[in-house]
Amino acid sequence: MPTKYAAGNWKMNGTRAALAEAEAIAKGAPDGAVTLICPPATLLAAMPESLASGGQYCHPNTSGAHTGDLSPEMLADAGATFCITGHSERRTDHGETDAHVRAQTEAAWRAGLTAILCIGETLDQREAEQTIAVLTEQLDGSLPDGATPENTVIAYEPVWAIGTGRVATPDQVAEVHDFLRGKLGADFALLYGGSVKAANAAELFALTNVNGALVGGASLKAADFLPIAEALAAS
Ligand code: 13P
Repeated sequence: MPTKYAAGNWKMNGTRAALAEAEAIAKGAPDGAVTLICPPATLLAAMPESLASGGQYCHPNTSGAHTGDLSPEMLADAGATFCITGHSERRTDHGETDAHVRAQTEAAWRAGLTAILCIGETLDQREAEQTIAVLTEQLDGSLPDGATPENTVIAYEPVWAIGTGRVATPDQVAEVHDFLRGKLGADFALLYGGSVKAANAAELFALTNVNGALVGGASLKAADFLPIAEALAAS
């Protein structure tokens, strides 16, 4: 059975005042699922030790003249054990290509981090019935050889469902996750991301090939995030 993950992506949200939420998440995290938060890098070293944490991006290199960037070794040094790679906001805001995402993912492994590799189609691509073709191309281009269920978690995040309140339907999620399961085998953890909330979490976690969620807005407050983690642990 794949490991279950309730993963929070705080994106560019949170100053030290938000550490109280991280403490509450650490205290309330249920058994039966791995609960983790990927805060802004400025907060990584201050996160509670009892809560797993991750970066949101890493540069492929270990060190060097790359102003503003962070290496996975630095994230690990600050306490991270995970790193998100290939998030659609990075692909859009920073022009990250599949090849770059692949290099980041390999770099994350080098530093001992588990990569949370994100893939997802745009609304135009879905309406043109290209979803599976797009996901296939992203996976083929960005998932390195050597990926294992221990070093990599896959997150399906349809771009049109991120931050929009428009969650994919269970049928849409099931179609993609069943495809991913067929492509990747029985043991990889497959997360869904895009407007996950306590109100829709149980329905998503009831799907056979959904092993957790990558949650944005609803991960910022313990009161919103813990019920999602609990629904996952109970699924
Ligand atoms: P929301 O949960 O805010 O839609 O964000 C999803 C996401 O992008 C997580 O990485």
